[in-house]
Amino acid sequence: MTAMHEAVLLRRRGAKAGDLKSYIGSGGLAALKKARAIGPEETVRILTDSGLVGRGGAAFPAGRKWESVRTAKDPIRYVVLNTDESEPGTFKDRVMIESDPFMVLEGLLIACYAVSATRAYIYVRGEYRHVAELLAKSLRELQQAGHLEAVGPNGAALEVEIRRGGGAYICGEETALFRSIEGYRGEPMAKPPFPTVAGLFRKPTVVNNVETLANVPDIIAFGAKALRSRGTERSPGTKLFSVSGSVDRPDTYEVPFGTRLSDLLELAGGGKDLQAVLMGGAAGTFVFPKDFDLSLSYEGVAERHTTLGSGAVIAFDRETNLWQVAERLGRFFAHESCGQCVPCRVGTRRQHEMLQALAEGHGRGDERGLLTRLSQVMTDASICGLGQTAATAVRSLLEAESAGLLAN
Ligand SMILES: Cc1cc2nc3c(=O)[nH]c(=O)nc-3n(C[C@H](O)[C@H](O)[C@H](O)COP(=O)(O)O)c2cc1C
Ligand code: SF4
Repeated sequence: MTAMHEAVLLRRRGAKAGDLKSYIGSGGLAALKKARAIGPEETVRILTDSGLVGRGGAAFPAGRKWESVRTAKDPIRYVVLNTDESEPGTFKDRVMIESDPFMVLEGLLIACYAVSATRAYIYVRGEYRHVAELLAKSLRELQQAGHLEAVGPNGAALEVEIRRGGGAYICGEETALFRSIEGYRGEPMAKPPFPTVAGLFRKPTVVNNVETLANVPDIIAFGAKALRSRGTERSPGTKLFSVSGSVDRPDTYEVPFGTRLSDLLELAGGGKDLQAVLMGGAAGTFVFPKDFDLSLSYEGVAERHTTLGSGAVIAFDRETNLWQVAERLGRFFAHESCGQCVPCRVGTRRQHEMLQALAEGHGRGDERGLLTRLSQVMTDASICGLGQTAATAVRSLLEAESAGLLAN
């Protein structure tokens, strides 16, 4: 059976996108009103019951994050909307905001109200100038219409700041993002403490992805069951996927969790003569046709040792030399490593050199063994997710080569 594109988050994509009147006319801002009527505790309870997990890659339960900050002792708290979206092949957050900026902002306002945030920050990828402008315009409209009033603590109006990113992949990592907002170099900090305890300016902080917060208004307006009516028991709701590469219709697709990867590819007009897809972006893994029947859910990808990551699905046909793709990924990680810890700073460079040799066909012969050992060290000893995942795609390619799955 072919999957259906199920527009829930993207239902307002099109002509009237970004129009406040039409947003309110189609039920927008009812969830914020309801949240204020039922109070922060009940709002967070509904979110927790819905089973919403973060869509930024780490798949952490959103309700648990909010509850930690809501009940924090420190009265100064922050909410950060992570709009950095720098994972290669990922563009769903941009499409989400372009399609419905008010739904994302309503999710942000509900988060701020629920945890009594003193201020919100929106950190927008540096290259997304028009996204930052659209968010600023939409925020202004909300403010002028009085919708930021009494969203802050003790009935105060909420202050929201938009910050443009510095153009580094690492600035999407939550602790590096905090450093960047604080005016320092975007370098990750070791965890714990986690952001809910000591985040931005070392204060309790909720940091959420765009797609995560876009889910919030429907959950609060219609109850936890609204999310659970789609998807699977352990992965409720729909998921946005950025599908690109060797498919006829590259685009952002919204499908219920549990949809088969082959059906998603078919939706994008591809899936015929594909050699592999890269799931989850540069930090993800290669998946080959024998696994195209996998279920796109958190449990489904874990079963096949892959990841949903940022929701990127990059398709490659049989003409593609996947070692050349791996070389590009290696170059990306070597360039984007912040250089703070040795396993990643040196490891990504050595990895790239060996991938270059393999892609150009002049290796010494021991690269495959060295790459495997190096991947273990980077995964185990790097401080943050960048170094820990810089070798996952390479490792999956080595396994596929041993199994005879590469086309050339
Ligand atoms: C190298 C790196 C880059 C990241 N980039 C992003 C990003 O661009 N957007 C994002 O939402 N999360 C990104 N993350 C994940 C964030 O650290 C964090 O887990 C996320 O913003 C939390 O939001 P969520 O709970 O709603 O998923 C990145 C993580 C790493 C390690
Ligand atoms: S793993 Fe890489 S990106 Fe992360 S802190 Fe270490 S050097 Fe920086």
